[in-house]
Amino acid sequence: AQVVQAEFVKSSVRTEDCPSDGIPEFALVGRSNVGKSSLLNSLVRRKKLALTSKKPGKQCGSIPFCFSLSFALASIGKTQCINHFRINDSWYLVDLPGYGFAAAPHELRTDWDKFTKDYFLNRSTLVSVFLLIDASIPVKKIDLEYASWLGQNQIPMTLIFTKCDKRKKKKNGGKRPEENVQDFQELIRDFFQTVPPWIMTSSVTNQGRDEILLHMAQLRNY
Ligand code: GTP
Ligand code: MG
Repeated sequence: AQVVQAEFVKSSVRTEDCPSDGIPEFALVGRSNVGKSSLLNSLVRRKKLALTSKKPGKQCGSIPFCFSLSFALASIGKTQCINHFRINDSWYLVDLPGYGFAAAPHELRTDWDKFTKDYFLNRSTLVSVFLLIDASIPVKKIDLEYASWLGQNQIPMTLIFTKCDKRKKKKNGGKRPEENVQDFQELIRDFFQTVPPWIMTSSVTNQGRDEILLHMAQLRNY
């Protein structure tokens, strides 16, 4: 299930503009700064295939063809489009914009939501959404809301807990990643009566990388 080839294909701002070759895809989504791009890089073992940013809203970097969202956003730079990366010439990893980015103007945030949700509801080749949750901080309401929206719309999802290498810090609620994960699972169980498949990861230690790739391979072969 290893990645031997990875290639940035295109950025799209509308579902209709996404690649039309019909191969299966997995979307990475999560709160801004949760570590989507880092995870993508870790999965493909490359440093800079997807752009990462130190602070939410730093550099724009070199992903081209992302015109349609406002220049205001482009200049502060984040993952803003639906970015397709073709893996082993047979499936896609898709990097989506982060949600809950407070610095984005309200109208843009709404747009953003709209096109991401349109993608979830209408992208027929989407096999599963990989919802990233930061395990180094206490449970965020917006993450639970996102998960329940996906659940209500019957979009298959896998929970990916990120930053599991981080140690507990007082300012982050004083809990270990394992404890935050458990809290999230308990809360999500209240919504779903069940917990979706979940994997604990770190882009620093590459924890969970093989498990994710194996899980994706299994989902593709269904
Ligand atoms: P946006 O595209 O801006 O929404 O962010 P993103 O979700 O793509 O996050 P990104 O990968 O850019 O990572 C955000 C910050 O978290 C960076 O400073 C990363 O170095 C850091 N980070 C990401 N993953 C991990 C991890 O597993 N462990 C630790 N310790 N830090 C991480
Ligand atoms: Mg990103």
